[in-house]
Amino acid sequence: MKIIFHGHSCFEIVGRNSRILIDPFLQGNPTADVKPDYFKELDAVLVSHGHDDHTGDYLEIAKATGCTFISNFELSNFAQKSGVRKTHAMHIGGKHEFDFGTVKLTPAWHGSGIPRGDGTFLYGGLACGFLIMIDGLWIYHAGDTGLFGDMQLIGNSCKIEAAMLPIGDNFVMGPDDAVLAAQMLQAKYVIPMHYNTFPMIRQDADSFVAKLEKKVPLSKGIVMKPGQVVEA
Ligand code: NI
Ligand code: MN
Repeated sequence: MKIIFHGHSCFEIVGRNSRILIDPFLQGNPTADVKPDYFKELDAVLVSHGHDDHTGDYLEIAKATGCTFISNFELSNFAQKSGVRKTHAMHIGGKHEFDFGTVKLTPAWHGSGIPRGDGTFLYGGLACGFLIMIDGLWIYHAGDTGLFGDMQLIGNSCKIEAAMLPIGDNFVMGPDDAVLAAQMLQAKYVIPMHYNTFPMIRQDADSFVAKLEKKVPLSKGIVMKPGQVVEA
């Protein structure tokens, strides 16, 4: 399986016969390495919550590729009303087997309001994370979240190949809490995300990895640059 980083919290996961995209924040993201029209064939686009830096370009990408939009019930209904042909609504704790692999929605301590652009929000359900199995390997994308103890349950429930964890602080976990998260998850690879996209979430990812590898010997930290590919 290939894990490709496209900046912020956006990852493309490529399996033997599958290709999915998570949190496609591209046009509004100065650090993104691709534009929405880069994606020609996708099985699914997954969105963790209603904030702009995660929904990003999902509408354009889902319409252009005809892929399935997967998110919580509220965002899936919103996507459907916005013109996405194929949507699959899920909710926290629920798991579904798709043609490309398995997706389970995990809790995330965060908001999920969809900004209307006038300072008010449309209800977007609850923020979530994703446990995804493709080609027999589990990936955990935590979404936007603070630290929570049930990550222990997630870590115990499956052997995680790669965990994408936010480290930006302020809106999500900071580096120290992300190390505690990694302790519970015991993933083979830990990939920091949601930092350095804008000044408020500036972090030193290399020092996060140094702390991580000291406290969690089983995990290898990988600081990915936009466009970089990791083989798992
Ligand atoms: Ni958010
Ligand atoms: Mn965010």
